[in-house]
Parts: sequence; structure tokens; C-alpha cells
Amino acid sequence: MKDFKLEIAENISSQVQEMTLEEIISLIEVPPNKEMGDYAFPCFKLAKVYRKSPNIIAQEISSKLQNTESIESINVLGGYINFFVNKKQLAQTVIKEILDKKDQYGSSNIGQGKKVIVEFSSPNIAKPFHIGHIRSTVIGNSLEKIYKFLGYETISINHLGDYGTQFGKLIVAFKKWGSEEEVKKEPIPTLLKLYIKFHEEAEKDPSLEDEGREWFKKLEEKDEEATRLWQWFRDVSLEEFNRVYDMLNIKFDSYAGESFYSDKMDRVIEIMKEKNILKESKGALIVDLEDYKMPPALIKKSDGSTLYITRDITAALYRKEHYDFYKNIYVVASQQNLHFQQWFKVIELMGFDWAKDCIHVPFGLVSLEEGTIATRKGRVVFLEDVLNKAIQTTKDIIKEKNPNLENIDEVAKQVGIGAVVFQELSNNRIKDYTFSWERTLNFDGETGPYVQYTHVRTCSLLRKANEQVTEDIDFDLLTDDDAINVITILSGFNKAVVDAMRKNEPHIVARYVVDLSQAFNKFYHDNAIIVEDENIRKARLALVKATKQTIKNALSLLGIAAPERM
Ligand code: ARG
Repeated sequence: MKDFKLEIAENISSQVQEMTLEEIISLIEVPPNKEMGDYAFPCFKLAKVYRKSPNIIAQEISSKLQNTESIESINVLGGYINFFVNKKQLAQTVIKEILDKKDQYGSSNIGQGKKVIVEFSSPNIAKPFHIGHIRSTVIGNSLEKIYKFLGYETISINHLGDYGTQFGKLIVAFKKWGSEEEVKKEPIPTLLKLYIKFHEEAEKDPSLEDEGREWFKKLEEKDEEATRLWQWFRDVSLEEFNRVYDMLNIKFDSYAGESFYSDKMDRVIEIMKEKNILKESKGALIVDLEDYKMPPALIKKSDGSTLYITRDITAALYRKEHYDFYKNIYVVASQQNLHFQQWFKVIELMGFDWAKDCIHVPFGLVSLEEGTIATRKGRVVFLEDVLNKAIQTTKDIIKEKNPNLENIDEVAKQVGIGAVVFQELSNNRIKDYTFSWERTLNFDGETGPYVQYTHVRTCSLLRKANEQVTEDIDFDLLTDDDAINVITILSGFNKAVVDAMRKNEPHIVARYVVDLSQAFNKFYHDNAIIVEDENIRKARLALVKATKQTIKNALSLLGIAAPERM
């Protein structure tokens, strides 16, 4: 696409030797209102170099700049050079490109030939997949799509928590108090109850802890009974998790969880020994991180058992060898910041320069509004319940608004789930936030349903007009403020996607699609679209179609469906 910003930057660059083209590009802004131009270049930095006032420099540079085919006029105000682009050309290039590229609009190939691993979700076997896990799932899923859209080869990994001493305890609890039927009927709640009971009983009878350790040891030694029970717990848990992944339309390339590394850790510990970074401390093996102001990394306990961190280090080595990643991304709650800092450092101390390519993408806590979500047994919230409630509530809303909608169940699913997903992405990921039904399912706020509804509006306009959007469009008819505002936002889609990738922040795409929807709704509110005048009608419908396509592409990057009716 014609890049107006680049053209402006090149124009400035021909007059300014003190800055690189990249620096100039990074300084160019989009002014808050159109009277100040479509793009502006601030001269404050140059003022320091030249020791002159910014406004004088702006004047000196601008007097040497030429108008081009794309730049209609240039003026100077308050230290800025303001550029007014040729609006007809802007409208034409942007809309043509969208209608031409369709579902690829906004994509690029900057990632070509590079492999990115996105590890996300990673729930724990026999524990509930709760509202906290949904953040990792939703953010990670979107990140993977964003990288892929930009040409990276992506690998999604679900690092299941399916190994560790807790499984010894669970085996003991099941053998003592469990029933096969009960586990079959309600796997995770039952296993969770058993696990809780184990801890209650162990308070009274500490010998249970020893039994738990013994059974974990048996599991490590591949004892037949221990392995069979563990495998069964894993299978029934995965079945429950898969129900949720199906609802969210998520598939992983790999489910290599912690257990996958159980036979690969010895070798890694050997490397640590060779590199001389392991120390013995009270019978345990540690990597001392005092020089880096962190507590030591405990690699092997005195009883010989390995730990969560040992498996993470082993997994990273395996991934490097197996995938030769360009980036290895972990979407995991910020509570685990220290854990990741510690083991990234251990990898570095092992002499692997790719430690810098391992990236922790943390996110804040979700808390719940009191009494908003029913909790099954105990204080745990099950994601499946949240999604089902969202779908049911959405169905009630749609029944009221659009009682004749045909595939209401399908749409309620797309909108209900879309609402929950969008809610997760509508804040900076690092911010803690409170989950609220009110906010999530509001059709008018900055929500998923609002964006989906805007998409539905574009679809219904195109249906009503019953017209193919044609080639012969007079783009002069799209140069009014409302239209140009939409078009300028449309033109910024790829930049939003690239920003989201650079910051690993899908929220930027969510914000983008809300801005686009709001601008479109203003355009729609102020202008009749299906008008008598054929040329105006055609031009406006082209803009409607371009908006529809871009909203759909953006939603798809967030992992949200774009229904045609709702
Ligand atoms: N299973 C862990 C939990 O639920 C998250 C795993 C995160 N990933 C990792 N490679 N450590 O807390």
C-alpha cells in the first residue's frame, strides 16, 4: 500500500541530515484533530541540535519541502510541520487494498523464516481450569495468531502441569478414599476433593506425606499401578480441558507437559555440573543466584526428586534443540515472575546465549465481583461454567432484541464466548482487573458484543443494498471528515498488529477494533448509506465493505468469531 507516512519521512529526510529515516519515521505523529493535519513532524529534537527555536526550524525545513502527489499542503504551527494528505488518494489506496487483500489485509511477512513458540494455557492435571487460566489461554491464543499473521512460523505448546510430588499424594488419596465411578462422573471436582482431603488428613497424620512421596517415587520408577492411575487422572482431566478448548476453538501443536521431560532432566543436570554452576546445599543441588540478587534455584531436592524449575530448564533446552526457535514465549501469570527470572538466568549461566530469546509474557490477576459467578464446591471458579453462563445470558438478550434470528444457539455461543474473550483482552495484560458480567455483556460499551454488532451492521447494510461493490468508485465522495476518519484508522491496521506483536500485547488489537467500530458508527450515524444517488451509494458501500473486512480480520486475531447476524 502507498505509505503516506514513509513518503513524508523521505521528504523530510532529504532536507535533514542529522537524523536517520527511522528516527524521522518514529517521530511522525497523527495529530489529535484533523485541522492540524493528517501527519505532523515535531521539530523539538532538531531544535536542540541546531540551537534554534523549534518553530523557526519547522519553517526553514518546510520552505524547502515540495508538495507531492500525495501531499496536498504543508503548514507550520507551534514547532510542528503539518502535512495534509490528498484525501482522495488516501481513500482510494486504503479501500482498494482492503478489498483486494480481503482476509489477508493487515498481514505481512516480516516474520518469514522465523519460528516462534507460544506456550500458553498450561493448566494443572486434576485441578480446575479456572478463571485465572483463561487469561493465559486467551492472550496466548491471540499472540499466536498475531505472529502467524505477520509471517512467523508458530508452534503452540500446552505445558501441562502433569508431574510432580502432588501426583503421589493424589494416588494415595484415591486409593484410600476414592471411587472410580465418582471420578468418571465428575473427574476434576472429584480429584480436587480427594487432593483437599489428603491435606486435611495429613495434618492429623503426617505419615501420609511419606506415603505420598513413596508413590511419587514409584511413579518416577515407572511402577505399573502408579503409572496407570496417573495416566488415567491425566486422560480424564484432558477430556475436561478439551471441552473448554473446543468451545474456544483452540488447538495446540503440542501437549508436551512437565511429565514429557521426566526422563530428560538427568542430562541437563549433567550439563550444569560440567559448567560448574551446581552447588550442594544440605544434600540438595542448587544454582546460587546471590550475585544476581535472587534466591537460589533449587534443581534437585535432597530426596533426589526434581522440581518445576528443573523441568522448565529441561523443556527450554529441548525446545531449542527440537525447534531451533527464534523466540520462545511463555504466557504465564506475573506471580511467577521470579521463577522465570531465575531459570532464564540459569540458562544464561549454562552458557546458552539464546537465553535472551526466552520471553516471559506476564499478566495480572483476575478477581471476581462478589457473588457474580456461582462456584461449584469450594471457592474455585470453573471456566466452563463462566462460558456457559455467558452463552445463556447472551441467548436471553438476543431473544429479546432479535426474536426471529435463525441459528440463535450458534450466535449466542459466538457472542457469549466472544464477550468473555474480549473482556480479557480489553485491558493491558499486566493490569489486575475485576471480572464483571455487567461490563462483559454490555452491547454498547467497549466490548466484544459492541464490536460484533458493528460487524453485523455492516453485513446488514451490504445485504440490504444487495449490490456488488464495484471497481468504478468515485473516491472524491469519501473525503468528508467522518469518512476520512474511518479510512485513516483502517490504514493503521497493520501498524496496530505489528505493535501488538512487538509488545506481546494483543490488547492493542482489541483497542484498535473498538476505535474502528466507534469511528464507523459515527460515520453511519451522520450519513445515510443507501441513498438515491448511485455514485454516493457505491462509494459509501465500499467503505462499509472495507470496514466489515477489517473488523473481521481484527476479531479473528483475537480469537473471536464475527457472526453476520445477531
Ligand atoms: N501449570 C502452571 C500453573 O498452572 C503454569 C505453567 C507455566 N509454564 C511454565 N513453563 N512454567 O501455574
